Amino acid sequence: MKTSTAVLSLSLAVSAFAQVQPAGVTQPIVEKCGSNGSVVCVNKYSAVLPYHFNRSISNNKADYDYRNTSVGNASTWDLLGPADFVVFDRERGLQYLGDSPSYEFMFPVSSAVHEAPIYAPKQNLLFISQLAPPTGVLPQLVVDLNQNPPTLSNYTPNPPIYAPNGGTFRNGELLFAASGGIDELGGTEQRVSLRTVDPATNKSTVLLNNYFGFYFNNMDDVVVHPTTRDIFFTDPDYSYFNALTDTAPQLPAASYRFDPATGAVFLIDDTLMQPNGIAFSPDGQTLYISDTGAVYGTIAPGYGGDGTQFNTTAPRTIYAFDVTNNGTRVSNKRSFYLAQDWVPDGLKVSKEGLVLTGSGHGVDVIDDVGQLIMRIQTNYTVQNFAWTGENLSTLWLMGNNGISKVEWNITGQTLV
Ligand SMILES: *[C@@H]1O[C@H](CO)[C@@H](O)[C@H](O)[C@H]1NC(C)=O
Ligand SMILES: *[C@@H]1O[C@H](CO)[C@@H](O)[C@H](O)[C@H]1NC(C)=O
Ligand SMILES: *[C@@H]1O[C@H](CO)[C@@H](O)[C@H](O)[C@H]1NC(C)=O
Ligand SMILES: *[C@@H]1O[C@H](CO)[C@@H](O)[C@H](O)[C@H]1NC(C)=O
Ligand SMILES: *[C@@H]1O[C@H](CO)[C@@H](O)[C@H](O)[C@H]1NC(C)=O
Ligand SMILES: *[C@@H]1O[C@H](CO)[C@@H](O)[C@H](O)[C@H]1NC(C)=O
Ligand SMILES: *[C@@H]1O[C@H](CO)[C@@H](O)[C@H](O)[C@H]1NC(C)=O
Ligand SMILES: *[C@@H]1O[C@H](CO)[C@@H](O)[C@H](O)[C@H]1NC(C)=O
Ligand SMILES: *[C@@H]1O[C@H](CO)[C@@H](O)[C@H](O)[C@H]1NC(C)=O
Ligand SMILES: *[C@@H]1O[C@H](CO)[C@@H](O)[C@H](O)[C@H]1NC(C)=O
Repeated sequence: MKTSTAVLSLSLAVSAFAQVQPAGVTQPIVEKCGSNGSVVCVNKYSAVLPYHFNRSISNNKADYDYRNTSVGNASTWDLLGPADFVVFDRERGLQYLGDSPSYEFMFPVSSAVHEAPIYAPKQNLLFISQLAPPTGVLPQLVVDLNQNPPTLSNYTPNPPIYAPNGGTFRNGELLFAASGGIDELGGTEQRVSLRTVDPATNKSTVLLNNYFGFYFNNMDDVVVHPTTRDIFFTDPDYSYFNALTDTAPQLPAASYRFDPATGAVFLIDDTLMQPNGIAFSPDGQTLYISDTGAVYGTIAPGYGGDGTQFNTTAPRTIYAFDVTNNGTRVSNKRSFYLAQDWVPDGLKVSKEGLVLTGSGHGVDVIDDVGQLIMRIQTNYTVQNFAWTGENLSTLWLMGNNGISKVEWNITGQTLV
């Protein structure tokens, strides 16, 4: 009898204690800090949260964003839910948002991955791919920015390009990293390859489709070095997990440089589990590559199309590297940023040197030492994004189920 009373009073004491805030909470934790509720500021990065708090682990069916953290006795936390912009560094965040930031949901799209955005400035068109196993020739998409409001239509270059997973503008052309492999699609064999499209004619050409006879696994994201114009790309294994290629991986997951003038391919890194987003600082001296190994599958033959799982403790990190010797030596790999949501998928660096990554339901904006300045919040998983417009100051975001657009004071690097 005595013992059970003691246990009961102890458990009451523990639960009462659990309700009490720890000393050190900065109040308010979240507050409105723009002209309306679409911008909120998180004070001191919510470095101390009231107990009991708990953020559920995301899985393939549900992404529990930062705003979905349950926090005891912190009513201001609810301001995060509907906000379009969450600012962590108030001074720089509000400056980078500018006077009248806006977020607009533009087009509902299918639940397929939407990727490889490329802005063609002369035509004022934004090309976007969609990835799903083929049902004939799966079209890509194009947003016509000459229309007001912009319109979304299907797009198929000639010959068609199967499953572009990465894209960038290069020498006046669209450069796609095509991630699919199949014997016949759109009247031609398709293997994982670098492809170009002239936006004036929509004619496509192949630049690279093998490594000494081996198929690449899944060219994923692609970027052009700002001064040498060499092409850098990542080659993870997702096409096999997601049934976009009919062959099991023949090469280790790795990242490469390609010199289109000589045709030579150079390995630049083979230490990441699933290398994914890739981007250069404006001076071309820092290379960022994300590892999304937290989303993984089985590469052995016979497992193609079995899909992916999420492992919260596996890699979901952006790494930085030094690039020296006129863009030919990639060294000094270092950890740069651990995605605070899901995995860091699409990766781009702004003209100001800010590193942006699509991670779960939004885009994180990070400075060049890895400090999260702010986040765009979306209601769908963002795979990638691209700047458009005369001054490259509009950011278009795309992913599963949505395409949206942001106006702000962060601009894209000059298109080369
Ligand atoms: C909740 O927080 C307020 C201050 O924000 C504090 O006065 C109150 O004691 C807290 N309640 C509990 C149960 O911790
Ligand atoms: C956190 O929330 C999840 C989902 O509701 C629950 O399963 C888990 O037990 C909670 N963990 C803690 C420590 O509160
Ligand atoms: C996370 O919060 C948002 C905004 O409040 C809500 O719409 C969404 O359903 C929540 N997600 C989960 C997985 O609970
Ligand atoms: C936009 O950002 C630049 C720095 O990149 C800053 O000088 C300028 O003041 C900002 N504009 C506004 C309206 O905050
Ligand atoms: C907030 O203001 C911006 C521009 O000032 C506007 O585009 C946006 O729709 C407003 N949002 C809300 C929730 O009122
Ligand atoms: C190329 O495709 C774009 C986008 O669909 C279209 O506007 C344009 O007319 C096409 N050009 C040619 C030469 O077919
Ligand atoms: C750097 O590389 C580019 C492209 O290969 C070449 O055109 C240029 O001459 C090189 N510059 C120097 C200083 O070696
Ligand atoms: C998750 O990742 C961690 C760290 O890489 C690893 O130790 C663990 O075995 C992984 N779990 C599963 C189920 O793969
Ligand atoms: C996201 O919000 C827009 C409106 O703001 C809505 O039309 C769309 O259906 C929502 N998408 C999802 C996946 O909830
Ligand atoms: C681009 O910037 C110039 C110079 O600041 C400005 O005059 C022009 O209106 C801007 N264009 C757009 C579309 O915002």
